[in-house]
Amino acid sequence: MAAAAAASASAERGVDVKKDGEEEQVVNPWEVSAGKGGIDYDKLVDQFGCQRLDAALVDRVARLTGRPPHRFLRRGIFFAHRDLNEILNLYERGEKFYLYTGRGPSSEALHLGHLIPFMFTKYLQDAFKVPLVIQLTDDEKFLWKNLTVEESKRLARENAKDIIACGFDVERTFIFSDFSFVGGAFYENMVKVARCVTYNKVVGIFGFSPEDHIGKVSFPPVQAVPSFPSSFPHLFAVNDQLRCLIPCAIDQDPYFRMTRDVAPRIGYQKPSLIESRFFPALQGENTKMSASDPNSAIYVTDTRKEITTKVNRYAFSGGQDSVELHRKLGANLNVDVPIKYLNFFLEDDDVLEHIKKEYKEGRMLTGEVKQRLIEVLYELVARHQRARAQVTEEMVDAFMAVRPLPNMFG
Ligand code: TYM
Repeated sequence: MAAAAAASASAERGVDVKKDGEEEQVVNPWEVSAGKGGIDYDKLVDQFGCQRLDAALVDRVARLTGRPPHRFLRRGIFFAHRDLNEILNLYERGEKFYLYTGRGPSSEALHLGHLIPFMFTKYLQDAFKVPLVIQLTDDEKFLWKNLTVEESKRLARENAKDIIACGFDVERTFIFSDFSFVGGAFYENMVKVARCVTYNKVVGIFGFSPEDHIGKVSFPPVQAVPSFPSSFPHLFAVNDQLRCLIPCAIDQDPYFRMTRDVAPRIGYQKPSLIESRFFPALQGENTKMSASDPNSAIYVTDTRKEITTKVNRYAFSGGQDSVELHRKLGANLNVDVPIKYLNFFLEDDDVLEHIKKEYKEGRMLTGEVKQRLIEVLYELVARHQRARAQVTEEMVDAFMAVRPLPNMFG
């Protein structure tokens, strides 16, 4: 009985405990790891209780926005959701919603994995023409990492520049850091949420241990309340029931499970979510690209030389050991990191299919695929660096100013 209860609590936390007691798969906001086969996303959807984002829903997004679906949708990179259909229903009726996403500023620069939700959010903002709030959890990183308050705030502002470089519309976007914005109506919502979540519940969802300091235990309401429009009186004073859609990777799901559980109890709408897979580490699918391990990651600040070295040296290959064997057997695409990265970033479906076929059947070699990848990544990173160089301190101030958004639903 006790074992069954422990297993179910572990499953809720995204921890998959095998019979022999070995933990095979862990997915939570602070840790993502899996066995050799990579993360089992199907299992995760079932454990977390979210829904699969199927082709019919992708078609519906395309139809309603009058745009072809983003490649992250076409290729199942955003693969799960919670109540996305409700957002689409109201949009179809001519009503609007707002977008909410965020970043925990733990490193100087973003890596390519962090770009995924921001690129996708930019597409959603353009396609639906809706306002967006972006939370920079400098307080979270102070609590979890060994950073001073000043350093967390500085990193938040640096990261804001990378986020702005993704092309968000200043007339529809409010970026805020917790250290500078938490208070007033936002804080009132935080304590309303906090009173609804027991210590047992928060431990069940996030797996905190008795040794963890209470800063960690008290943080989840901070990430929860941007889901409620009344936390932003300068934006949504007239509509405190406006629905919210949160794009993120599935590691953030625990925060919003808690939020959705609490929302109706304090008179608010549950936020909807659209959730992505992880952009894997260079070493392979069994973990996500992470800022804590520089060799696992390609940063938006990397030079062409750094990208070339990292891809050539670290990107796990599904190719065979010798050219002869490769020509004969072809590559194993299921484990090949360069192919996975191309799947995220190479726009042209036909070119991607061609590369996959040639590589799988041994006509293309790992070195050639890596070369294609280096070109694609370098172009992406160089474009990002050019955009970031245009972001001034005044622009950061403009995005972060507490102000009404002039063109929210225009
Ligand atoms: P953070 O800074 O860890 O990550 C920022 C966003 O990037 C996503 N992400 C990834 N996506 C794909 N592949 C990866 N390898 C990868 N690594 C990270 C995260 O899911 C996230 O969407 N606590 C949050 C900050 C936050 C937030 C939010 C995020 C506050 N409010 C609302 C999403 C939605 C954090 O530390 O994210």
